[in-house]
Amino acid sequence: MLKIAPDLTNEQLDDIIDIVADTKIDGVIATNTTIDRSGLKTDKNKVDAIGNGGLSGKPVGLRSTEVIKYLADKSNRAFPIIGVGGIHSAEDALEKLDAGATLLQVYTGFIYQGPSLVKRINKAILKR
Ligand SMILES: Cc1cc2nc3c(=O)[nH]c(=O)nc-3n(C[C@H](O)[C@H](O)[C@H](O)COP(=O)(O)O)c2cc1C
Repeated sequence: MLKIAPDLTNEQLDDIIDIVADTKIDGVIATNTTIDRSGLKTDKNKVDAIGNGGLSGKPVGLRSTEVIKYLADKSNRAFPIIGVGGIHSAEDALEKLDAGATLLQVYTGFIYQGPSLVKRINKAILKR
């Protein structure tokens, strides 16, 4: 599986689709953490003081879903996509599946919500 950043442009995502086809990689994990610092509630000085690094959880959720949707739509669902980034609730998980993810991973949401998040996600999927 190839794991990609949420900071890639759509042109770069087109390249990813070609690379997966050419190399027969089994699929894509979308997405990793982000270097983007826009739209945060935390004071900018504090964010600057914390410094560089990958941001996970809610701030990456929307872009992660956009990347999943772009890859799924543009490739005609040609390969499996593992959806990850900002899943903190069953609704977030269903959004990723609706965008075109075939499997899900939960990192930051697991820390904040605890293991019962997985149960809630599974129940929501079964309810469909
Ligand atoms: C503490 C921590 C460590 C991580 N370590 C790695 C890593 O070693 N390699 C990697 O590809 N992604 C790593 N990630 C990124 C996660 O796999 C995931 O793609 C990203 O955090 C978005 O999901 P989330 O919002 O559920 O955390 C890490 C994330 C966190 C929070």
